[in-house]
Amino acid sequence: MKTIFPINIFKHCATPFYYYDIDLLRATLQELKSCIKGVPYKVHYAVKANANPRILHEIKEAGLSIDCVSGGEIVAALAAGFKGDAIAFAGVGKTDHEIGLGVNHDIFCFNVESLPELEVINEIAATKGKVANIALRVNPNIDAHTHEYITTGLSENKFGINLEQLDKAVDKAMSMPDVNLIGLHFHIGSQLLDFKPYEMLCNRINELQDHFDARGISFKIINVGGGLGIDYDDPDGNPIPDFKGYFDTFKQHLKLRPGQELHFELGRSIVGQCGSLIARVLYVKNGTKRNFIIVDAGMTDLIRPALYQAHHVAENITSTSTETELYDIVGPICESSDKFASDEKLPSTHRGDLIALRSAGAYGEVMAMQYNCRNLPKSHFSHD
Ligand code: LLP
Repeated sequence: MKTIFPINIFKHCATPFYYYDIDLLRATLQELKSCIKGVPYKVHYAVKANANPRILHEIKEAGLSIDCVSGGEIVAALAAGFKGDAIAFAGVGKTDHEIGLGVNHDIFCFNVESLPELEVINEIAATKGKVANIALRVNPNIDAHTHEYITTGLSENKFGINLEQLDKAVDKAMSMPDVNLIGLHFHIGSQLLDFKPYEMLCNRINELQDHFDARGISFKIINVGGGLGIDYDDPDGNPIPDFKGYFDTFKQHLKLRPGQELHFELGRSIVGQCGSLIARVLYVKNGTKRNFIIVDAGMTDLIRPALYQAHHVAENITSTSTETELYDIVGPICESSDKFASDEKLPSTHRGDLIALRSAGAYGEVMAMQYNCRNLPKSHFSHD
């Protein structure tokens, strides 16, 4: 399913902007749902990947639950129509105010990252006369072999409760009157295309469940987080991620107990391929060694290349030229890291052409900032 850009409409739109292919988003959600039919699996969409209200609306319509990491995300989810009982709330530094908000809305579950946090949730729930559902986030010490900024499941990372401290945390949670321990939560990293680390995670969870079975302790929910990657190199060739391979890995390797549910928190794999950042070419500058395309979008609109050395395929969507050249594509920000691509092969490009930076639906618009007093990018949709 190839994204078709409505260029005639784009010509009249102020750039830069995000364009979302709603048909592709719907097809992606459809495929995801068909892969979890008939198994006790539940997917929470990770709002952090994209909190655009229109995108949240589509995801709600598809019937997914939601995973939030801040009070702001909880507010965005509620505004999009998600009910409190569909919200999981994760995050290593939840404020008292954010915890209070979650308790007030009787959210489905708090994913708890430390013992001190557990105490605060118990206290806040008590003052409100409520019992908060919690899952303990376990740091499983598994290397996801992804970019160091987005790997989270190693014991040296700040996330979760280490395996050595888990028994103590479980005992403590079970002894507290105002929290209800319903599950264990894991997340090992993001943009994973190799399923081996997930297999290792399943094995680790099986060991832990055996351990807790022996202690007579059981959990209603196992939550394995998110992280399924997308094909940044070939967005049109692989517009929908390998949900089947991903879920099959868990079906094959994770031994769920009777009545137990398996939860996921997927972000990038749901929204990544449906979004592109559309920029206009301001200047083409021929340097001594390189040719630069200077566009009106910068790292402020899409920070992934500058922050993670990520590559987003760049397409000149208006050129009809049959000649190609190698270009560096850069933005207008006063930083050398404000570069989208080096040696990108594009048709001969001119001032006024439109460039699409593909696979930008996840961690694109939502990470935009106003450095250099720039405006935040707007968004347009295939079903406007
Ligand atoms: N659950 C937890 C606990 C997480 O920390 C994350 C992502 C997710 C779920 C969703 O992961 P996903 O399915 O989207 O991989 N800004 C970076 C990615 C940061 C991911 C942070 N945590 C990027 O642009 O690559």
